[in-house]
Amino acid sequence: MKHALVIGGTGMLTNVSVWLSVNGYHASVIGRYPEKMQRLLEQNPAQMTPVLVDYTNTKELAEQLHRIQKKNGPIHLVVAWIHSTGQNVIPCLTESLSNSQPWKLFHLNGSSSNLHEIKAKTAVPIHVHYHQILLGFKIESDMSRWLTNEEISDGVIKAIREEKSEHIIGTIAPWEKRP
Ligand SMILES: NC(=O)c1ccc[n+]([C@@H]2O[C@H](COP(=O)([O-])OP(=O)(O)OC[C@H]3O[C@@H](n4cnc5c(N)ncnc54)[C@H](OP(=O)(O)O)[C@@H]3O)[C@@H](O)[C@H]2O)c1
Repeated sequence: MKHALVIGGTGMLTNVSVWLSVNGYHASVIGRYPEKMQRLLEQNPAQMTPVLVDYTNTKELAEQLHRIQKKNGPIHLVVAWIHSTGQNVIPCLTESLSNSQPWKLFHLNGSSSNLHEIKAKTAVPIHVHYHQILLGFKIESDMSRWLTNEEISDGVIKAIREEKSEHIIGTIAPWEKRP
């Protein structure tokens, strides 16, 4: 069985965590709050590992990454929704995950992000297959709104299936029509 890691997998990515766990992956999931984690685990406890850690604490994060790889094997795929406080999380991943076998990183970004700038700044090593996902918005009968959690998770699952290097969920154009 392959091993996936979902950073922020107890929030809007809940359905992604569950989908991975029933589609050939053991899903390790990062979040801080036990109650939210418990609600997620109830959906498929045998195929999920909780990782209760504050990802801004990179020492503890690195320890947890070693623990889950010892338990579930090397990580093949990472889905990452990381707030701006977590700028050291991806460097911690590239140090703590295998550098001898390739792994995929699906990196979610907020609507106003500049993907090219983020890609240049993220600068992952060559064995990491880097995929960017941009969260857009929806325009419906001349009104606009932000994406729902279900739309975000569905879009991420599509991005994992299609493996494009850039994937936009919803739209970001015309930008002046954003909610
Ligand atoms: N363009 C768009 O449409 C768009 C873009 C962005 C967001 N949104 C919406 O905005 C809502 C709120 O966004 P949100 O960022 O709060 O998303 P969220 O996915 O609901 O929550 C953040 C996730 O990251 C985890 N997390 C946050 N900080 C952490 C830390 N320091 N260490 C470890 N885990 C951490 C949280 O777990 P814990 O709470 O357990 O720590 C949770 O799993 C979303 O539900 C989404 O619908 C929409």
